[in-house]
Amino acid sequence: MANRRQIKFGAALHGVGGNVSGWRHPKIQADASVNFELYKSWTRKAEEGKLDFIFIADGLFINEKSIPHFLNRFEPIALLSALASQSTNIGLVGTLSTTYSEPFTVARQFGTIDKISGGRAGWNIVTSPLEGTSANFNNKAHPEHDERYEIAAEYLEVMRGLWDSWEDDAFVRDKETGVFFDPEKLHTLNHSGRYFSVQGPLNIARSPQGQPVIFQAGSSEVGKNFASKEADAIFTGHETIEDAVSFYNDIKERARAFGRSPDEVLVFPGIGPIVGETEADAERKYREIAELVTVEKALEHLGRFFEHHDFSQYPLDELFPDIGELGRNSFQSGTDKIKADAKANGWTLREVALRAATRRSEFIGTPAQVADRIQQWFEGGAADGFILFEAVPGGLEDFVDLVVPILQERGLFRTEYESDTLRGNLGLPFRENRYVKERAGIGS
Ligand SMILES: Cc1cc2nc3c(=O)[nH]c(=O)nc-3n(C[C@H](O)[C@H](O)[C@H](O)COP(=O)(O)O)c2cc1C
Repeated sequence: MANRRQIKFGAALHGVGGNVSGWRHPKIQADASVNFELYKSWTRKAEEGKLDFIFIADGLFINEKSIPHFLNRFEPIALLSALASQSTNIGLVGTLSTTYSEPFTVARQFGTIDKISGGRAGWNIVTSPLEGTSANFNNKAHPEHDERYEIAAEYLEVMRGLWDSWEDDAFVRDKETGVFFDPEKLHTLNHSGRYFSVQGPLNIARSPQGQPVIFQAGSSEVGKNFASKEADAIFTGHETIEDAVSFYNDIKERARAFGRSPDEVLVFPGIGPIVGETEADAERKYREIAELVTVEKALEHLGRFFEHHDFSQYPLDELFPDIGELGRNSFQSGTDKIKADAKANGWTLREVALRAATRRSEFIGTPAQVADRIQQWFEGGAADGFILFEAVPGGLEDFVDLVVPILQERGLFRTEYESDTLRGNLGLPFRENRYVKERAGIGS
């Protein structure tokens, strides 16, 4: 349990980055989103830094206004399978939508990554915010925001059931007697629910961590309830420590209300550290990226969160327009916040768009200053760990080479992996097979 008190880190591998124009930076490889050599070297760097996991975000709908990284990028499951063989300790967390996939297939895919990697897989559950996605999936109706979470909850129930199809010692493989498996340790799920009908059993057994780690990304009321009740970790985003602390307390309180220990759900804000030799150097790095963004590109970027709404129709230097409920059925928690902040601060459309597209991280400065800020958030009750995004080129390398050693020296971060599994490194318990647990319960 000692590692519970240390900070956890994930590295989001995000190709050319989340900035609309970052790919034009001289130090960013313009093909980074589909450059496997780069993904391999990032994975190795993250593992060299003893980070807990790499993290692959994803989406299922693009149009010509999507940011460059979204236009041409690797599929997470296939990518993580390949990266599993390039690494030994680091966790492999991939995003997959519960709205546009089938649990049997996905249970099998994550089960396979978990086996290949020896218990290092994690699934980031998302519900697919964009309505346009349905056109890529036989035009099935795009469920509304809250229903998407109801589907996700049943989906996860099915996944967990399938993952427990085989007890850990079910495969006897006795060549003498000809017994391949113990039929008592094989379980058929027979799930029949509102959204899914899945018989099982799954055709892959459990890994050394029992089941993959469950992440959830979504911060609305229903999203927070789902995460607090079911997830091992939640991925979120906050601009200030005050917001992050209140979110953190909220999640832990909800977990308690669901009868869980607050330690069972880890809170991971996403951050984009910018490390420089001096403060001025770090500021220069930020400006180099921010100045690449034109207001036209920033408007397109903003539009995506609101179902690709065309913001170019409004005057740039007047107050952020009243767009009513738009955005509430897509990135609800994000779009609610954009509207509320714009109103509270009296921002113009130009200000809102540029802020969204060129956010200046507060994790900026010398290595010691960035380490201080991380420590402040961690000890101030804002986070159990962080998911690191590259806000500037070389961001991951700078973090591993310059910030990690400071945090290690302060005893805030590991110097060696504690475990071979992702659950082990995150301080989460092995996930017992439900039937083994049941039998143990009856026996005691
Ligand atoms: C920090 C964060 C990261 C997210 N990452 C993804 C992602 O990689 N892919 C995706 O389809 N949706 C992603 N989402 C969207 C959520 O899955 C969800 O559809 C959306 O945020 C609306 O739910 P909410 O209102 O509960 O936040 C993310 C949301 C948040 C808050």
